[in-house]
Amino acid sequence: MLLRLPGVYRPQHDTQLLADVLAAEPLGPHSRVLDLCAGTGALSVCAAAAGADRVTAVDVSRRAAISIRLNALVGGHRIRVIHGDLIEKVREERFDVVVSNPPYVPALADAVPDRGPARAWDAGKNGRALLDRICCQAPDVLVAGGVLLLAQSSLSGVEKTLTMLEEQNMRVDIAATAEIPFGPVLVERRGMLERRGLIEVGQTREEIVVIRAVK
Ligand SMILES: C[S@@+](CC[C@H](N)C(=O)[O-])C[C@H]1O[C@@H](n2cnc3c(N)ncnc32)[C@H](O)[C@@H]1O
Repeated sequence: MLLRLPGVYRPQHDTQLLADVLAAEPLGPHSRVLDLCAGTGALSVCAAAAGADRVTAVDVSRRAAISIRLNALVGGHRIRVIHGDLIEKVREERFDVVVSNPPYVPALADAVPDRGPARAWDAGKNGRALLDRICCQAPDVLVAGGVLLLAQSSLSGVEKTLTMLEEQNMRVDIAATAEIPFGPVLVERRGMLERRGLIEVGQTREEIVVIRAVK
């Protein structure tokens, strides 16, 4: 049970799918794990519980950062919490695993919100505002042989993610998929998504994908 300040993303299917993939990574006491877009810190807690003793959680939301600190404290986990934008404050560091469940929902506008709960899911018109940045930045903070685990929806261009990572000389794989019913945000946006051709008329389910990329 994780603590969560109001407005912080409640761990959902995507979090669980990514946690399952993370659990299959060999995380020893010397593993350095970076959780980008950490929310409550659910994935950081999983990494710490699996034995990684250097876990860093980054989130741009102050409430998320506080929630992660609380969850680390309550669970007795050593997690370094950084309030910031993606890798900006860890640019000079290197990690064995970067795990990320970023915002990836196609939104009405290209500008990403700078506050409020929607900052956890809205990611520009094509849903790729954060995914594109992570594809470019994550390889820079991985050691050779390091692993990126990245969750996204099939609505926000899985092929584009695979191509961008391959262009950075990463070996890519789909590690897990799950088909889930649209949540309230997608239900509300169905008309817009249909008009843009991002979903079929009448579609009510999306596929969540976890990409595993090795540097
Ligand atoms: C979908 S939630 C995922 C939370 C958590 N990882 C999970 O799986 O339950 C996305 C998170 O990304 C954070 N976020 C959005 N933009 C960010 C940015 N530029 N840098 C860091 N975190 C960001 C949001 O505040 C939110 O907590």
